[in-house]
Amino acid sequence: MNTEKLLAEAKKAAKNSYSPYSGLRVGAALETKSGRIFTGSNVENSSYGLTNCAERTAIFKAVSEGERDFIGMVIYSDTDRLFYPCGACRQVMAEFGDELSIVIISNRNKAETSLSQLLPSIFRL
Ligand code: THU
Repeated sequence: MNTEKLLAEAKKAAKNSYSPYSGLRVGAALETKSGRIFTGSNVENSSYGLTNCAERTAIFKAVSEGERDFIGMVIYSDTDRLFYPCGACRQVMAEFGDELSIVIISNRNKAETSLSQLLPSIFRL
């Protein structure tokens, strides 16, 4: 996975975060096996439950453009704390395979992990 390139793209995506309620600006960059990069930011809503996380925005963009095979994702939060992907995003990632590398980065911290570590015993039909 091209972590440096993905981080640069995730930081750009975080600038487009629509997060007037939480103030947490998140950007995600997803690399496909075909070599493309799809980005996403979190998009909040005044009806809070309708909020879409940055990770799912990136995945939905990729899938709707015909891509389903992914290598890895960099998730950047414009804050000092590390924010791991929520359970809903983990399940959406798992829909497309369990081999996804995941790098989580903030302005002070970094963690390298994978979907199989974050979501063991995955539910699948
Ligand atoms: N958020 C993400 O974008 N990704 C995550 O994995 C966790 C949470 C966003 C959703 C919401 O806009 C804000 O962070 C606070 O929950």
